[in-house]
Amino acid sequence: MVFVVILLGAPGAGKGTQAERLAQRSSLPHVSTGDLFRANLSEGTELGKTAKTYMEAGNLVPDEIVLGMLFDRVAQPDCHEGYLLDGFPRTLPQAEAFDSKLDAGTNLVVFNLAVSDATIVKRAAGRLLCKACGNIQHAEFSPPKKDGVCDRCGGELHQRADDRPEVVRERLSVYHAETAPLVRHYENKGVLVSIDGERAPDEVFQDLDSRLEEHCQEGGPEARV
Ligand code: AP5
Repeated sequence: MVFVVILLGAPGAGKGTQAERLAQRSSLPHVSTGDLFRANLSEGTELGKTAKTYMEAGNLVPDEIVLGMLFDRVAQPDCHEGYLLDGFPRTLPQAEAFDSKLDAGTNLVVFNLAVSDATIVKRAAGRLLCKACGNIQHAEFSPPKKDGVCDRCGGELHQRADDRPEVVRERLSVYHAETAPLVRHYENKGVLVSIDGERAPDEVFQDLDSRLEEHCQEGGPEARV
C-alpha cells in the first residue's frame, strides 16, 4: 500500500523544517515543489525560468506546470512505496488532480501546521537557507553558530528572494485565498490532523511524530479518492 503524507500550512509555517525531520524518521522521500522549482532555477532550466517570475512576485506557479513536475517526481522509483509532500497541493484543482491520480486504498494523512500570520511574518524575515545543502535556519530561532555559515555543512547561508516583507504579504494573501480551503477539503475526506505549529520546532516535531505513529498503528484511514 502506498503511504502519502501531506504537510499543509502557510508560507513559513515550518513545513520544510518538519518535513526534513519526518522524512528522516519515516524513510519516506521528501518532495517539496518549492525546492524542485528552486533546483530548476539554479540549473537555469526553462521550467525554472518560467517559475521564477511567479515565485519572486509571491504568486503561485500555474497548476498545469506544477502538476506535470510533481507527477514526474512521484513516478520515480524512490516514491513507489510512498512519499512526503511539502508545498503541494496548494489549490483545489491541484488537490483534485492529485486525488484522482491516487490508487484506491492509498494510505493518506494530511497534517495542517496551524500558525498565525504575525508569526509567519517574523519567521520569513529571519529565515536563512544554506546554498549548498538546503538546511533551514533562522536568525533568531535557530541562529547559526558562525554568522552566515550553515551549522550542518559549513555552506553559505542566504535569504530567499521571496522572503522580502512585501512578497511575504502577497504569499500570505494567496495562501488564504487559494490554499487555506484545502483544510476543509481534507477534513471532509476524514484524513486531516491539525497540529499547533506555534510551538518550538522540537515540540512540533514530537507531536507530528507521535500522530504519525498513531496513524500507522491504526492502519490509517484509507484515502477516499
Ligand atoms: P515553497 O518553497 O513551498 O514556500 P512556502 O510554502 O511559501 O513555504 P516556505 O518554504 O516559505 O515555508 P515553510 O513552511 O517550509 O517554513 P520553513 O520550515 O522554511 O514555495 C515557494 C514558491 O514556489 C511559492 O510561493 C510558489 O510561487 C511556488 N510553488 C511551490 N509549490 C507550488 C505549488 N504547489 N503550486 C504553485 N506554486 C508553487 O520555516 C520558515 C522559517 O521559520 C525558517 O527560518 C525556520 O528555521 C523557522 N521555523 C520553522 N519552524 C519554526 C518553529 N516552530 N519555531 C520557530 N521558528 C521556526
